[in-house]
Amino acid sequence: MAPPRLGSDDREMATQYYTATSIDGYIADEDDSLEWLFQFGDVEGVDEDYSRFVEDVGAAAMGSTTYEWLLEHEDLRERPDEWPYDVPVWVFTSRDLPAVDGADLRFVQGDVAPVHADMASAADGGNVWLVGGGDLVGQFHDAALLDEIILSVAPVTLASGAPVLPRQITDPPLKLVDVDQYGDVFAALTYEVQRDGAAHE
Ligand SMILES: NC(=O)c1ccc[n+]([C@@H]2O[C@H](COP(=O)([O-])OP(=O)(O)OC[C@H]3O[C@@H](n4cnc5c(N)ncnc54)[C@H](OP(=O)(O)O)[C@@H]3O)[C@@H](O)[C@H]2O)c1
Repeated sequence: MAPPRLGSDDREMATQYYTATSIDGYIADEDDSLEWLFQFGDVEGVDEDYSRFVEDVGAAAMGSTTYEWLLEHEDLRERPDEWPYDVPVWVFTSRDLPAVDGADLRFVQGDVAPVHADMASAADGGNVWLVGGGDLVGQFHDAALLDEIILSVAPVTLASGAPVLPRQITDPPLKLVDVDQYGDVFAALTYEVQRDGAAHE
């Protein structure tokens, strides 16, 4: 296995799934809506949490449903300046999707491993952010390429929708390494993915 890439401060880069979820494990409702999340837009500390996270990100990936939601929700074909990412973004799709003027986008498909290698190289020591959805993140986990899961758990249940991570990860289980609270709304939970053979304290 290749040695871990080191960032400028000599820390290892990580591949991170950073997302918001309902407490019953959905990142979007059945209609791909996030209105349940946007009702909490002004919770103190959340913007700072996102800024701290994104500061260390050097590349991002998302599936086509997430990308098309962004295109539509932010009206990006009419307003390309609203593209929200400063880092290159890889979009997984088997279709020809429209690009956003001026955005650093790469459309890819198939095996996530070679794409991850390109992302890590472009990130140049920065972290790789897996924006979602859940199955795409699962593909990175299947390839042993997912290091951390960072969840902002919102105080709602959705009962159905897009699952946060449709995989069984039980042995070894995830390791809870950090817990934060934002207002009376979000529990921010950081988990490390353990490799086989890792023991819990
Ligand atoms: N709560 C949050 O913070 C948050 C974060 C992210 C996303 N979301 C929302 O959650 C929902 C996620 O939707 P989703 O679960 O459908 O996931 P998605 O990952 O956004 O999109 C899934 C699609 O991506 C393409 N794809 C995935 N893996 C591929 C591969 N290896 N090669 C080629 N194409 C691949 C396929 O579409 P094709 O038909 O194009 O091939 C697949 O149907 C969206 O509504 C999104 O807006 C919420």
